[in-house]
Amino acid sequence: NLPADLRGCRVLITAGGTREPIDPVRYLGNHSSGRQGYAFAETALARGAEVTVVSANVTLPDPAGATVRRVGSAAELREAVLQERSGADVIVMAAAVADFRPVNSAEGKLKKDGAQPQPVALAQNPDILAEISQDRTHSSQVVVGFAAETEDVLGNGRSKLAAKGCDLLVVNRVGEGRAFGTTDNQVAVLSADGSVADIPLSEKADIADRVWDSVVERVTNDAS
Ligand code: C5P
Repeated sequence: NLPADLRGCRVLITAGGTREPIDPVRYLGNHSSGRQGYAFAETALARGAEVTVVSANVTLPDPAGATVRRVGSAAELREAVLQERSGADVIVMAAAVADFRPVNSAEGKLKKDGAQPQPVALAQNPDILAEISQDRTHSSQVVVGFAAETEDVLGNGRSKLAAKGCDLLVVNRVGEGRAFGTTDNQVAVLSADGSVADIPLSEKADIADRVWDSVVERVTNDAS
């Protein structure tokens, strides 16, 4: 029996991984599948929320009942988030957003014939999570960010939470004897008020539900 404790709550979720174009057929990307972001959408829908997903290159079926906006690059994801965020009570930034993009995206396909390989010059992308955390459309908006840390998970997570300015940071514990690419990982939810909720190795839907518990607790505390 799921609680309907997000009824009436408007939620914006980013999911997937951005692709930064090098030319019309090539890109810099990452391995994010969008599963964790979609699990956030599905669990929020099940708990009664109105959900909009900004979906970057996800091939999973749309969460039933969500409004889905498809984007490709970090710049497109940023535009979509800035357009959709004003009505949102909670924003969950689960997407893996590229930190860097090629300075120039060639208009035509780059050719290997006769040419020396050229380095791809990179420029830094704006940090969307920091931007929307530090300049909120309304003061009660809750912003949730993500991080993967290999060492000093809590220390680095706490610094990142402060640097970004979000309310909750879901830290994927990929270090401490654990490795990338295994299922043997674990998440901690750090809160701006200093609390830490450890979530043991779990399905992505269960992780999302536990994070929603933290969001609901936060909203309830703010209201009282
Ligand atoms: O700084 P780092 O990439 O570890 O932060 C990860 C968090 O920041 C994620 O929530 C991701 O969605 C967000 N992010 C962002 N814009 C970027 C890079 C990351 O919003 N350019």
